[in-house]
Amino acid sequence: MFQDDDQPIRSLTQPTLEDVITARVSRRALMRGAATATAVAATVSPLALLGGATVHAANNPSVSFEEIEHGVDATIHVPEGYQADVLIRWGDAVLPGAPSFDPSGQTGTCQATQFGYNNDYIGFVPLPYGSNNSDHGLLCVNHEFVSLEVMFPSYFTFNAKRELVPTELAEGLNEDELAQMLRQRSETIIAAHGGSVIEVKKEGGKWSVVENSPYARRITASTPMRIAGPAAGHPWLQTNADPGGTHVLGTLNNCAGGITPWGTYLMAEENVHLYFGTNLPEGESRASRYARYGLPTSRIWKLEEDRFNTEIEPNEPNRFGWVVEVDPLDPESTPVKRTALGRFFHEGAESIINEDGRVVVYMGDDARFEYLYRFVSDQPVDPDHRAANADLLDSGVLSVARFDPDGTLTWLPLVHGQSGLDETNDFDSQAQVLIEARRAADLLGATPMDRPEDVEPNKVTGKVYVMLTNNSRRGKEGQPGADAANPRDNNRSGHIVEITPLDGDHSAATADWNILVRGGDPSRDGIDALWNPGISADGWFNSPDNAATDPVGGLWIATDQGGAWALNSGVRDPDLPKGSVPDGITADGIWWLGTEAAERGLGKMFFRAPVGAEVCGPKFTPDGETLFLAIQHPGDRSAAQWVGHGRPSTFEDPATRWPDFEDDMPPRPSVVVVTKKGGGRIGS
Ligand code: FEO
Ligand code: CA
Ligand code: CA
Repeated sequence: MFQDDDQPIRSLTQPTLEDVITARVSRRALMRGAATATAVAATVSPLALLGGATVHAANNPSVSFEEIEHGVDATIHVPEGYQADVLIRWGDAVLPGAPSFDPSGQTGTCQATQFGYNNDYIGFVPLPYGSNNSDHGLLCVNHEFVSLEVMFPSYFTFNAKRELVPTELAEGLNEDELAQMLRQRSETIIAAHGGSVIEVKKEGGKWSVVENSPYARRITASTPMRIAGPAAGHPWLQTNADPGGTHVLGTLNNCAGGITPWGTYLMAEENVHLYFGTNLPEGESRASRYARYGLPTSRIWKLEEDRFNTEIEPNEPNRFGWVVEVDPLDPESTPVKRTALGRFFHEGAESIINEDGRVVVYMGDDARFEYLYRFVSDQPVDPDHRAANADLLDSGVLSVARFDPDGTLTWLPLVHGQSGLDETNDFDSQAQVLIEARRAADLLGATPMDRPEDVEPNKVTGKVYVMLTNNSRRGKEGQPGADAANPRDNNRSGHIVEITPLDGDHSAATADWNILVRGGDPSRDGIDALWNPGISADGWFNSPDNAATDPVGGLWIATDQGGAWALNSGVRDPDLPKGSVPDGITADGIWWLGTEAAERGLGKMFFRAPVGAEVCGPKFTPDGETLFLAIQHPGDRSAAQWVGHGRPSTFEDPATRWPDFEDDMPPRPSVVVVTKKGGGRIGS
């Protein structure tokens, strides 16, 4: 989700940049050639900073596509020789009998049968289960949030106080009619969230959605779910509707996610605070605990149910912010919130089987100055008996990362009774440690990061890549300044950290870390970008958000520059009209990014999104011949900055009508499928 203005929810004191640099240079940075903090870059050749072996200018990357250009326009772009087709759009049928899409008359009932809004994570589970089939499978797609300004006709707008008020269009409607319209929208919004499971098949080189599939499923913000793991039943999860604290309606703000080794679909709940309005009851002792999770906020989505009102249901926010596990092979199964994986603003939940057979899940908490987490299951995955893994994610150790300047990452376990996570610090149980994972991580001294988003284990190389989108607050007064792992103040372009588990053991207490790239335009002064010297004018990017690895271990990055995309590029041209986007800035997209030897730090632009959109969910089929992409929030309000539009982007007058380009059709978040014309592995 784009979020350039998320609340810095906390502040910490940090070692000074000088401390950091001194320690790092002395022990490891130069020895290993690790990319490090700004001041190091000033004194050491950029070639030495890219890590690994000696770096040569590389013009022969192991991918052979012809790079596309930076730019901004209303549609999508792929390299010559590639094909990009829209597979499914917001409002298309998912369940049998779904009505045809009517953008002006959406209701909760029809939306609950159709593809939801703002597709984010994409998982692929080959069919038949257990096969490596790359032509037939289930797509598991998250629907993170809604873009009200282009989703609904403009009968309402937000005023300066973020209150929803009627517009001129609503003149002539009485109060009852307006209230009815808001209720209908609330129901539509609830049904537009969650996820979709669709069956997809490639026939004659073309992908399509299988109609009336027995696997088809919509999960929404009102789907009944179970709460499992150590926090299930805790008094802080109990509500009027669920006195036992073990059942909850729905999932919210499902950003990235993961597919487990046993083929279940993990949906990460990210900015869940946005749904809960008003204050806690007078004198409520939990106010400071809630503040750590950004509560209260204004009720941005206007969900007309009492459970979203914390005055009435003060515990409901504790029931969101988890990882939800769904069995896509059984559409009747009850999704389960796995509390052992902690409660925070989960970006994703990608996993890898460790050498000892246990599953390791890597997770970012996407807000400024939040942390990187890891979960290691107690028990190994049973590869032969799928059902034996059903509750594997209920027991294990959640840890949070501390990045030391010498290049060591230490995993700090969030275990009740250890390291001060006990009654002396107001934790009465493991349940509380998990519900308040952020506060527990604060106490352990985890490293506050520049918005950790997707965390991608590369199953070919065993290394792990952490997307750090940006953090314009770093170094601002009262906020932590640059450190080794977050080496730029006012970091608007983001960076990528590479983790190398010791001896390939993802469960080890420590690992090595390194910076792969620092985003931004390397030709502009003052940005302090770090790329391979062979990079082209189109090869660099800002704000890495999602990542995918292909079957040969290639790393592909999806970007989300956010609503302030021009500003986040690090430049504003004073001669251009206010709000316009200067040259050299690009819409979001997909880049291949070299990680090894001479190609390390070399980016190559592969896909460009329509104006306003970020790119999510990159997912390859096992053969690497298909790349599924989720195009999220095309033409949203951030598109007003584009000179090609230059005015607010609204339902009636959007900056783009991608993908339909029909006069009465708003832009529609959609899944795009990219293949090579004539077949073959993408990038080859
Ligand atoms: Fe939903 Fe952090 O992107
Ligand atoms: Ca994002
Ligand atoms: Ca994201």
